[in-house]
Amino acid sequence: MRRPRDDRLHRPPDRTLRPGAPHVTAVQPSLITTLPGSAYTDATLFSLEQERIFEQTWTCVALAADLTGPGAFRTVTVGRESVVLVRGRDGAVRGFLNVCRHRGAALCTEESGQLRRNLQCPYHAWTYSLSGELIAAPNLTTMPDVDRAEYGLHVVHLREWLGYVWVCLAADPPSFDDDVIGEVVTRLGDVDSIDRYDVGALVLGRRIRYDVASNWKLIVENFMECYHCATIHPELTEVLPEFADGFAAQYFVGHGAAFAPDAQGFTVDGRAGADRLPGIAEDQDRRYYAITIKPQVFVNLVPDHVIVHRMTPLAADRTVVECDWLFAPGVTEIDASVELFHRVNQQDFAACERTQPGMGSRAYRNGGVLVPSEHHIGEFHRWVSDRLA
Ligand code: FES
Ligand code: FE
Repeated sequence: MRRPRDDRLHRPPDRTLRPGAPHVTAVQPSLITTLPGSAYTDATLFSLEQERIFEQTWTCVALAADLTGPGAFRTVTVGRESVVLVRGRDGAVRGFLNVCRHRGAALCTEESGQLRRNLQCPYHAWTYSLSGELIAAPNLTTMPDVDRAEYGLHVVHLREWLGYVWVCLAADPPSFDDDVIGEVVTRLGDVDSIDRYDVGALVLGRRIRYDVASNWKLIVENFMECYHCATIHPELTEVLPEFADGFAAQYFVGHGAAFAPDAQGFTVDGRAGADRLPGIAEDQDRRYYAITIKPQVFVNLVPDHVIVHRMTPLAADRTVVECDWLFAPGVTEIDASVELFHRVNQQDFAACERTQPGMGSRAYRNGGVLVPSEHHIGEFHRWVSDRLA
């Protein structure tokens, strides 16, 4: 049974044209309306999303290979928390809330770095092993009441998949197989279809970080539809002519979008890219697949590389997106491949930034409409509102 929804997301739309309110447009009852504009601007709602979505679901936070060896660390933001990821001496990556158990100081303030031996708090020098146990503190022997086992770092749930580190802050996390891998299976039909790209064996060719002045949901919605492709993505529609008709059928049936007959590769000018990845099937060649793994990951699969976007929402109107281009080891000619999706990103994020101010306008108080090719955005809205209930 569906739980009641958060009514901030589902105020009944005002569908009347009122005298003196020329900005409010009457819509047909059969049309699917979007969320109201306040869903993209309300700080209280954003806080609720952080608590009930980003702190409860699995989120993808780092490329595992960036944690290069024992003691390598990265700090990442998950919901309202800072999390420190550390590779241990046993080679495993662990995640801890980045908060000292003594008086709460942040253990690591740099985005990344290399620990010398342990995790030592810079305030009073409480020291934790790379596995999170409290192992030393000045004068600890004079504090018999401090149980070392009790005062270790808070461990977060962590999985590695596709070469990335995924974490979940929930005490009792949802099934990774259902919620993360299941999204991929829903889009592609089976997990083999992504396993053939052997994403974990690819290496980072380029990473670009985009600081986007937009609510995270606008970015997800934009990624889920291709109604905009003909308007704003000239380079992409050259390579994927199917996208020019605005239907983007691959989002529904997982067949992938076919390259244009004269496109030799998924590159900014259609020139050949790198060699095809060895494991992919014949019917995956010359095709592009796009997958949204809610709430904050987009994966694009093409024959010679994989593009992974990770979002970190920082405020109702600000989202950082990190985009990684992953190639087979040894591939060096990547500029034309990177440039294609970098332009797509710039075009998409400019569209999201152009939309964000309208969310606060009285013209969008009741939201807009979803045309048929955007109907799955309505499913995303239901997914969000179910989690806020
Ligand atoms: Fe960390 Fe005191 S706050 S040692
Ligand atoms: Fe786009």
